[in-house]
Amino acid sequence: MPMLDIDWVRAQFPALALRVNGRPAVYFDGPGGTQVPQRVIDAMRDYLTSSNSNTHGAFATSRKSDEVIAQAHAAVADLLGCDADEVVFGPNMTTLTFGISRAFGRELGAGDEIVVTRLDHDGNVAPWHALEESGCRVRFVDIDPSDCTLDMADLKRQISPRTRLVAFGYASNAVGTINDVEEIVRLAHAVGALAYIDAVHYAPHGPIDVRRLDCDFLACSPYKFFGPHSGALYGKREHLTRWRPYKVRPALEENPYRWETGTQNHEGQAGIVAAVDYLAEVGWRASPSVTSRRAALLAAYDVIRPYECGLAERLIGGLLGIPGLTFYGIKDPARFARRVPTAAIRIAGHSPRELANYLGERGIFTWDGNYYALNLSERLGVEPSGGMLRIGLVHYNTAEEVDRLLASLRELVRK
Ligand SMILES: Cc1ncc(COP(=O)(O)O)c(C=O)c1O
Repeated sequence: MPMLDIDWVRAQFPALALRVNGRPAVYFDGPGGTQVPQRVIDAMRDYLTSSNSNTHGAFATSRKSDEVIAQAHAAVADLLGCDADEVVFGPNMTTLTFGISRAFGRELGAGDEIVVTRLDHDGNVAPWHALEESGCRVRFVDIDPSDCTLDMADLKRQISPRTRLVAFGYASNAVGTINDVEEIVRLAHAVGALAYIDAVHYAPHGPIDVRRLDCDFLACSPYKFFGPHSGALYGKREHLTRWRPYKVRPALEENPYRWETGTQNHEGQAGIVAAVDYLAEVGWRASPSVTSRRAALLAAYDVIRPYECGLAERLIGGLLGIPGLTFYGIKDPARFARRVPTAAIRIAGHSPRELANYLGERGIFTWDGNYYALNLSERLGVEPSGGMLRIGLVHYNTAEEVDRLLASLRELVRK
């Protein structure tokens, strides 16, 4: 079985050399944004040094910019399993989703409904909620608070022939649950509704195949999968072609550019190509016989998934042994195929901000609060008291780092 070459991986990320208060930094803040490999930094610097220009001009740097932009669409198409003209870039997932929801509003009529979930980041809730202003109704799917999974029976109750779109996450950025996305797409399509997937949190952890899922839209953010701050969206060609974007008149009318409002982040797109190539190299190193970038990307996740699962077992097993700790989410290792290595906890007697501060002083970076998964934090009843502490691992983290976090928390509760 090929395995992740963790030493090689870590050597790619210069930020991992940072020290805080004399100790190596531990980046458990990946769900808020991952670190980038050196090649992403190089690609962005090179773009700004030798290609910096606006697009479609009759000179060298502009032509190079057009090339970089085409390469970026092709790279994300390989990552998501679609064609380059179905990839739309934007500043971030939230802005892209507001753009799509606004255009979708033009398609809606009285009595139409949209279904969202209480497990989702607000980036996949607020843009749909905003459509209530134009008369459509938004319905919420509940969760099972015992393990923070979606309540599929409730989902079936909320979906009806009036449903025009179901918006849901691939994986929760707060508690790590992976949803049964294929089944949700199927349920949406069964009533003639569209399926809009927020894959921001899933993308660094697992393979995505929009054709197999048959989803209508899928959004992600390259800065969560080792690239620069930016957003990317897959849209089925038929929707991108038929729907009308809010755009300026002189901008191109062809897909995907008609959906990319204003000047894009070109150096960011250069970085996105490098981030996807980094992931592909993880795959090529593990499976040298693969022959395409798409196959290499799938091979990368074949080694990333089990490696992260091992870290999750160590982390969650350790957390569950800490006195006074409440754990939110799936904790049975037999069900870890349904989660990514993102853990949310509270510890009696310490607010999440106090925990994050305590760990931060020891060079361990975690998040506290709701991380914009506001409905979930409210549903779990933790919002008024500071939310939860989130420990988010990605494949550049190590077992030693997990042990350092566990030792720090044990020391805290012993005091
Ligand atoms: C699951 C999820 N969805 C959406 C977003 C919003 O992404 P962006 O910052 O690209 O707008 C985030 C960011 O944290 C997220 O984790």
